[in-house]
Amino acid sequence: MHLKYKRAHKKTQEAMALTAQDSNIYKGMHPQLRKAQEKLKIITGHKHVRVVNSGNAAIMIVLNSLEGPILVPDQGSWSGVLKIADFLSKDLIKVETDKGLLSVDLLEESLNNIAENPQALFISSLAAYTAEQPILELANFCKDQEILVVEDASGAIGDPEKKLGNGKISNIILASTGSPKLVNVGSGGFISTDKQEILDKSSLLIRSFRSSPIIAAGIAQELEFAGDNYKKLSQATSYLKNRIKEVIHQKRSGTNLILPCSDPPRRAQELRSSLNVEGKNIITICPRYDRIEERAVCVEIKNLDPDCLNKKNLREISAVITDIMF
Ligand SMILES: Cc1ncc(COP(=O)(O)O)c(C=O)c1O
Repeated sequence: MHLKYKRAHKKTQEAMALTAQDSNIYKGMHPQLRKAQEKLKIITGHKHVRVVNSGNAAIMIVLNSLEGPILVPDQGSWSGVLKIADFLSKDLIKVETDKGLLSVDLLEESLNNIAENPQALFISSLAAYTAEQPILELANFCKDQEILVVEDASGAIGDPEKKLGNGKISNIILASTGSPKLVNVGSGGFISTDKQEILDKSSLLIRSFRSSPIIAAGIAQELEFAGDNYKKLSQATSYLKNRIKEVIHQKRSGTNLILPCSDPPRRAQELRSSLNVEGKNIITICPRYDRIEERAVCVEIKNLDPDCLNKKNLREISAVITDIMF
């Protein structure tokens, strides 16, 4: 079995190198930035897009523009949101989830216990990267409650089924395009919305966090592969979820396998040495806010090169996991 860590596509690397060599001086916005923003508008369906230099920059810009309390899942979302909200002195309210997965019932129950009127729900497309959130149902409910939906689509932008990262559903979409995200450029991020006022309120931050044309060129090119990559990664993960006995959120699509166990560090070490990945590590451990708050190991399928996820390798990954975990 030969597993490779995900890298930017060769065409993406070439597009970035070409932009780095471009010595032309452009008036106003660099053409590569314009190109990336126009492509992102097509993908999200929103009117306004700003490409910035990281996912955290996008989060800071959006949180800075929001006033009231912001709802976040009690686990399964990006921990940077908690730190940035703290830095900006924004009130967050954690809502109960089923191991990161939110439902309208759980959200309604939490709202019944909250005195304030939250302004927004800030949620990742995938709970712990392992389970698609029911974004449409949540967004319909939030619309009735006048709560904005902010979706961090770092793990699912370009979803060919348009359930995730869809601007017709979420009011604000943002994402990291760093490594090893779905749009895997090594750096960068973006914000997308129909709400001009969100961008206006943070215009100074948007200027401060602007992206280089090289990153923008990478995003514009890598977006061509995002839909296909998401499909391959989620299909491979579903295949493994169906073959492995005890996985969290077995029936839901995602790009990460989470396996509960009593001794995560030991199991993680065994998996790392058997799953021999060229490049970096794909095994992480829980409890932690970004995944689930209980003892488990994660096999981060999302970090693998989608092209190495053929049936033979998937059968071998499944055999290794079964052997070590059960
Ligand atoms: C879901 C999610 N959002 C945002 C970020 C932050 O992105 P960046 O590293 O580009 O600041 C990460 C980083 O891992 C993430 O997983």
